[in-house]
Amino acid sequence: MENETIKKQVQERYAHIARQQLAGAPASCCTADVVNCCGTNVMIPADEITARGALPTEVVNTSLGCGTPLEIAQLQPGETVLDLGSGGGLDCLLAAKRVGAHGRVIGVDMTPEMIALARANAHKVGATNVEFRQGELEHLPLDDASVDVIISNCVVNLAPDKVRVFREAFRVLKPDGRIAVSDMVARAPLPDSLRTDMAVWAACIGGAITEHEYIEAMRAAGFVEVQKVSGGEDSAAMVYSAKFIARKPDPRAVSGMS
Ligand SMILES: C[S@@+](CC[C@H](N)C(=O)[O-])C[C@H]1O[C@@H](n2cnc3c(N)ncnc32)[C@H](O)[C@@H]1O
Repeated sequence: MENETIKKQVQERYAHIARQQLAGAPASCCTADVVNCCGTNVMIPADEITARGALPTEVVNTSLGCGTPLEIAQLQPGETVLDLGSGGGLDCLLAAKRVGAHGRVIGVDMTPEMIALARANAHKVGATNVEFRQGELEHLPLDDASVDVIISNCVVNLAPDKVRVFREAFRVLKPDGRIAVSDMVARAPLPDSLRTDMAVWAACIGGAITEHEYIEAMRAAGFVEVQKVSGGEDSAAMVYSAKFIARKPDPRAVSGMS
């Protein structure tokens, strides 16, 4: 299937979910036919449980993530953070608290209804250092070398061209910037019967690649120190949530200039 067709179908699926959430109804990226997708069985660390507890439950419940990228992002006050595929914006709102008034968080998502949901959530919590931009990860609406840290939660698996997404991430990251991602990965290459089923793809399963392929996609985009931090140890699931970190090299450090 053409990449653009896949993206359109993913967008339609997430527009539908966001419309339900905007109407106050519970929604998930799973469907009646596709269960155990996204955040099922994800462990949330204690400090994030506390941080989530400070936000309204209806905002927290709009999360469609499959992990906790903030756990490994090590955000510092004053940093500029980009969230790839920000959805309802929960990770952006949590990041906004960590970077504080002198920091800034930008969420990018291609689905207009998700942008509306995220803005409504930001308004509910009175966040002033967060903004949401509609755009595709393959063509990020950001300048070169403009962010300190990139996070992403359960999104890159949905993109048909993952190297392209990581190249764009690399472009907008400042030298020595870091990327911290939670995403669904596959234990082994998935059969075509799953990869071509758009309901399975949109549920964050069909587009999952192996850990090895994921790490290679990040390296192909230019990232260094690419590491899998955790994931897949405690189950035999075919597709599971994993966390990765990597860094954009700083050419000044390589040449010895400061
Ligand atoms: C599973 S949801 C995760 C949302 C959010 N990160 C969270 O944790 O709740 C995936 C999101 O990625 C967005 N998305 C998928 N592919 C995208 C792409 N190529 N460009 C921009 N956004 C994309 C969808 O619109 C959707 O909001």
